[in-house]
Amino acid sequence: MNEMSPDGYTTEDGRKIGGVVMEMRNITLRFGGVVAIKDISFDIREGEIRAIIGPNGAGKSSMLNVISGFYHPQEGEVWYRGARRPAMKPFQVARQGIARTFQNIALFDGMTVLDNIMTGRLNHMSASFIDQALWWGKAQREEVKNRRVAEEVIDFLEIQNIRKTPVGRLPYGLKKRVELARALVAEPSILLLDEPMAGMNVEEKEDMSRFILDVNDEFGTTIALIEHDMGVVMDLSDRVVVMDYGKKIGDGTPDEVRNNPDVIDAYLGVAHD
Ligand SMILES: Nc1ncnc2c1ncn2[C@@H]1O[C@H](COP(=O)(O)OP(=O)(O)O)[C@@H](O)[C@H]1O
Ligand SMILES: [Mg+2]
Repeated sequence: MNEMSPDGYTTEDGRKIGGVVMEMRNITLRFGGVVAIKDISFDIREGEIRAIIGPNGAGKSSMLNVISGFYHPQEGEVWYRGARRPAMKPFQVARQGIARTFQNIALFDGMTVLDNIMTGRLNHMSASFIDQALWWGKAQREEVKNRRVAEEVIDFLEIQNIRKTPVGRLPYGLKKRVELARALVAEPSILLLDEPMAGMNVEEKEDMSRFILDVNDEFGTTIALIEHDMGVVMDLSDRVVVMDYGKKIGDGTPDEVRNNPDVIDAYLGVAHD
């Protein structure tokens, strides 16, 4: 990585990273007596693949939930594209172009792959379904557009052959890919992935890594991803935030955090698979 400037930087592999799009300032989040996040600040830059890593219970999912509006921190500020973001509902955050996947797959098992993916277009649909009932023309145009975007994403993620399969019948790795597809049809500018490769075998992990890189490369999507396994993110991410017991213990390039003594201690001090 060359020198960091307000306008961005160039990665080792020659990609241009832009200015700050999302900034967490001194975020503290508590659940009763549990401090899930303690005074953490970091930023995410345009076009970046930004990882959040740390042992189980470190507060990674909580942080993603703050970004996506599921949790509201007791202290601190979230800044998005140069403005302080007020407390928002998740659907409002989604409308600002931020889409996510969940640590535990959240798909409708009885519905087909295609129908599951279509639910990701909800943030692009008209405010009122009554409107749609009354204005068939408009509803139809919307439907055509939604279908086209869904089919493009299905091609991109190479899941054409399972588009009519009920999600409940799919193996785990493909379910995770369908969840990624559902997030992508929202056409997000920032994509949040909570452990996209957890529980996968080596081959599935390689596929998912490639798709994440391709999404970033082809659509210019900024990606913030959580990973439990240090090895996986090292190849994938431009910069890494390391959390442990709700605190930030490292922040920098993969090489920087890998050589950070606090990070090494945190990882050697816990048993993880
Ligand atoms: N909804 C919640 N209610 C109470 N405690 C929670 C909730 N979500 C997370 N926590 C607690 O916050 C801490 C961080 O959890 P989490 O963000 O899920 O960590 P990670 O994703 O790094 O494994 C843990 O101690 C967890 O038990
Ligand atoms: Mg988690």
